[in-house]
Amino acid sequence: MGRLVVVSNRLADPRKPAAGGLAVALGETLKKTGGLWFGWSGKVVENGTPGEGELRVNQAGPVTLAELDLSQEDHDAYYRGYANGVLWPVFHYRLDLAHFEAGHLGGYRRVNQLFARKLFPLLKRDDIVWIHDYHLIPLAAELRAMGCEARIGFFLHIPLPPPPILTAIPSHEWLMRALFAYDLVGFQNHADLQHFAQYVQAEATAEPVGPNQFRAFNRTVHANAFPIGIDVAEFQRLGQAKEARDTYESTKAEYSRRRLLIGVDRLDYSKGLPQRIRAFRELLRLYPENRHSATLLQIASPSREDVEAYGDIQRELESLCGSINGDFGDFDWMPIRYIHRTVARRRLPGLYRACAVALVTPLRDGMNLVAKEFVASQDPDDPGVLVLSRFAGAAEQMKQALIINPYDTHGAAQVIQQALQMSQGERRERHAALMENIRRFDVHWWCREFLDTLRSSRAAPVDS
Ligand code: ADP
Ligand code: G6P
Repeated sequence: MGRLVVVSNRLADPRKPAAGGLAVALGETLKKTGGLWFGWSGKVVENGTPGEGELRVNQAGPVTLAELDLSQEDHDAYYRGYANGVLWPVFHYRLDLAHFEAGHLGGYRRVNQLFARKLFPLLKRDDIVWIHDYHLIPLAAELRAMGCEARIGFFLHIPLPPPPILTAIPSHEWLMRALFAYDLVGFQNHADLQHFAQYVQAEATAEPVGPNQFRAFNRTVHANAFPIGIDVAEFQRLGQAKEARDTYESTKAEYSRRRLLIGVDRLDYSKGLPQRIRAFRELLRLYPENRHSATLLQIASPSREDVEAYGDIQRELESLCGSINGDFGDFDWMPIRYIHRTVARRRLPGLYRACAVALVTPLRDGMNLVAKEFVASQDPDDPGVLVLSRFAGAAEQMKQALIINPYDTHGAAQVIQQALQMSQGERRERHAALMENIRRFDVHWWCREFLDTLRSSRAAPVDS
């Protein structure tokens, strides 16, 4: 069996904690399989030459990490400008937040070419190459142009919007054509897969040539949904370790007379944080019995602070939390505890377990691993309740959660009240069903399923 080569923009030492679904999931996967993980080092060289970057290769346990520096100009155009200023907002249905600039597309292509130039010499004949996420869509096409014949798969961690939204991207034909350089393309759920099928049939006149196989541009690509999961066993082990237990005990002691609700997210406009806070305010307004007795703990880790829209959402959130605490708070109770920081991963299971309700309420999300982590952390005899947005990819699998529409403030508040009042019997039943699903479709299932499909789905070579 060939070596696994994983490529993603965001790299993380698999021995250390990370925030962000991709780094967490790939770290868990590679710790088990070993292999090469290639990506951006996180370092930006101020006066570096565009299209150039130093590569450092180091061993991190069973994983070889190949870390590439980026010049400031490349970083600004590729990461800040195109990946996070165009693809992220559009793929999350936020055309209003997208900024299209030709120079950013140029930088995106240049960095994908740089990745290909640096990666290609490291590849061995029978490697299996797995490329991740929206930063690197054209990477396989660049590798193929250099003569790479390895099996190459692509997984999109974020949603794929339907054609009327996708086609707003000025370079959408080029971008989507690049997907045909892969042997297999994976999505988080069936809705995204459908959007892909609709796009390639309408815009690229691709023909379905088999179940989930599409032929266009002289290539056949396989596509399917592979919902990502968490490492349930590992997360539960973490939950039994001292740091998580201490966190549980101290949180329980501090809130002994109060119900705790929790939100854990990167501070991103896709996460629906202002809508969540407004729903919590509505809960306090509609059901005054929660005043003095319910606290929302919102932990938001800093993210992409050099992108304008992220500064805006941070200010909005701070002002909302401030006004609710001012309106409803008392000298011995604050309704919202807002923490703008990344919490140590070792403490998360203890924190989740101490909470009666989790609010996982994105406006749009590829999957949302926090929903699964919360469920995995609960005491099965006395579990907390998951309130989940219908717009999270996870909602396709986690049907026993309480599903809300995050735009409906009043309706969301009613559901949160339902969660706070749910009987122990119902909580147990829902939790058991959710656990069964996340155990079955864990991160190892995801990895196995994708790689087995990739191994058996060789796309036909380019026709002569
Ligand atoms: P995304 O990939 O968009 O960030 P996910 O919910 O899929 O969203 O994954 C987020 C991951 O990062 C989870 O593993 C979660 O535990 C972790 N994470 C998010 N926010 C924080 C935070 N404030 N502190 C610690 N870990 C965090
Ligand atoms: C999401 C994306 C990942 C990204 C992560 C953190 O999970 O799908 O590709 O790595 O957010 O964002 P960042 O910009 O810090 O890498």
